[in-house]
Amino acid sequence: MLQFYAMKITKNLVLVGFMGTGKSATAKLLAQRLKLVYLSMDEEIEKRQGMKICEIFEKKGEAYFRKLEADLAKELGLKTGLVIDAGGGVVLNPDNIKYLRKNGKIFLLTSSAEKILERTKKEGHRPLLKVADPLAKIKELLKQRKTFYQKAADYIIDCDDITPEGSADKIEEILNSFE
Ligand code: S3P
Repeated sequence: MLQFYAMKITKNLVLVGFMGTGKSATAKLLAQRLKLVYLSMDEEIEKRQGMKICEIFEKKGEAYFRKLEADLAKELGLKTGLVIDAGGGVVLNPDNIKYLRKNGKIFLLTSSAEKILERTKKEGHRPLLKVADPLAKIKELLKQRKTFYQKAADYIIDCDDITPEGSADKIEEILNSFE
């Protein structure tokens, strides 16, 4: 069944959602299972710039990063066969979503602020969460971004109590329900 789906795929699968919702792990699993190509937008930007995301934010600023992200979203809108692991802020620019949706179905992964904190607190690579009170920051950003995430989503996967395997299973179920 899944093999059939893989052959039928004409679109990208695009995973969006807040930091720490499991986009990367879920996208890698889906790519493996469906024999598609995994592409992390952040990793692609890092590779092209020769700098880590934190360094780009520090040295060039967030606006510069957002421009790189927008250019890449436009480019990816022309490709197929990818599972795209989009950065948490990609939804903030409606043009990004317009381009990513051109050739893709958009899956929004969601989690509570507390779960997001639990998952992100051991990692230090996210510039926006390098603050004294990360939980307050997560809550503030979730509130600011709520409508952007909802507008972007073709499908919503609640990832609060499931592992990336569970999220990948849910996405596969949706794919299998396609005609
Ligand atoms: C960001 C999320 C990060 C990365 C950058 C900004 C955001 O990606 O793009 O640090 O604005 O939410 P992940 O969601 O993969 O951590």
